[in-house]
Amino acid sequence: MPIVTPLTKLLNIRVPVVQGGMQWVGVPKLVAAVSNAGGLGVITALTQPNPAALRNAIKETRSLTSKPFGVNITLLPSINPPDYAGYARAAVEEGVKIFETAGNSPGELIRYFKSNGCIVIHKCTTIRHAKSAVKLGVDVLSIDGFECAGHPGEEDIGGLVLLARAAQELKVPYLASGGIADARGFAASLALGAAGVNMGTRFMCTVESPIHENIKQTIVKSSEQDTVHIFRTLHNTARVFKNKVSLEVIKIERRPGGAKFEDIRDLVSGQRGKLVYENGDPDYGIWSAGIAVGLINDIPTCEELLRTLEKGVEDVIGNLNAVVVKSKL
Ligand SMILES: Cc1cc2nc3c(=O)[nH]c(=O)nc-3n(C[C@H](O)[C@H](O)[C@H](O)COP(=O)(O)O)c2cc1C
Repeated sequence: MPIVTPLTKLLNIRVPVVQGGMQWVGVPKLVAAVSNAGGLGVITALTQPNPAALRNAIKETRSLTSKPFGVNITLLPSINPPDYAGYARAAVEEGVKIFETAGNSPGELIRYFKSNGCIVIHKCTTIRHAKSAVKLGVDVLSIDGFECAGHPGEEDIGGLVLLARAAQELKVPYLASGGIADARGFAASLALGAAGVNMGTRFMCTVESPIHENIKQTIVKSSEQDTVHIFRTLHNTARVFKNKVSLEVIKIERRPGGAKFEDIRDLVSGQRGKLVYENGDPDYGIWSAGIAVGLINDIPTCEELLRTLEKGVEDVIGNLNAVVVKSKL
């Protein structure tokens, strides 16, 4: 039985599962595998060195799938911001119709995509930001709870309450994001009113994910206690894998007087994080991971993963039905 929600209808996909943008991970091979499996794969624009390279990544993805896929643009706090407008234009000109936006002050980007007839999924971590994004005209919200990999915001609200609040407040479809890696989480998200789920960490650990096999095995061996928050004291919290480098960053942040970004810049460099995925050493740099690592025990293909999730959701919902005893009138 297919799971039909406003998301599957809007995006014309079979399973209401989105693979969220992932720096160094959201590349054509994985994106196409997710879309071919019936979900929505999303290319991470900033993983490409420039807008021209993004055009090539879009063309490559299109050569691997005829199904819908999207492009993520993440607005980062940065002294020298990337050419966001250039990436956006390249993707629109290449015919991409679905965008995932994330980060601060997305107004200009969202207006640009909407004026070009695109569908926008905006990722946020508070109901306040979700409502602002609705005013800007986004079609879908992706609500990232405290559990998520990457940036959970500074308010520490777990998915259970955040999604129930979304159900109370939002009139547009929303996705549950953060901590979802199995059918129970997926079914619970639907129960909380979500039109689907967004997953990051789970997709890192699939056959088609481009990261080193040793990092996938590290995720399989990890528990839900194997992530930490860095950048807390800089008010730009990020959930990353607990390793020598992230523990060192926290130590520096906690020393008397705190830390400035310059004090940790080398430790947290994106290039070091990229090399983790290339050389397979989990202690080489900082890499994003959510507490869903504790739920991940295998490395399936995206097709196997989505089929298992679909079937699992049906079972979980069926079993819940049996819990409800209808009283006789
Ligand atoms: C390795 C990795 C890199 C990520 N990079 C980005 C990114 O560049 N932009 C973004 O919006 N979200 C990024 N995220 C967050 C995901 O898109 C998604 O919101 C998050 O992983 C959901 O939580 P989960 O990992 O518990 O499923 C990243 C997540 C991971 C695991």
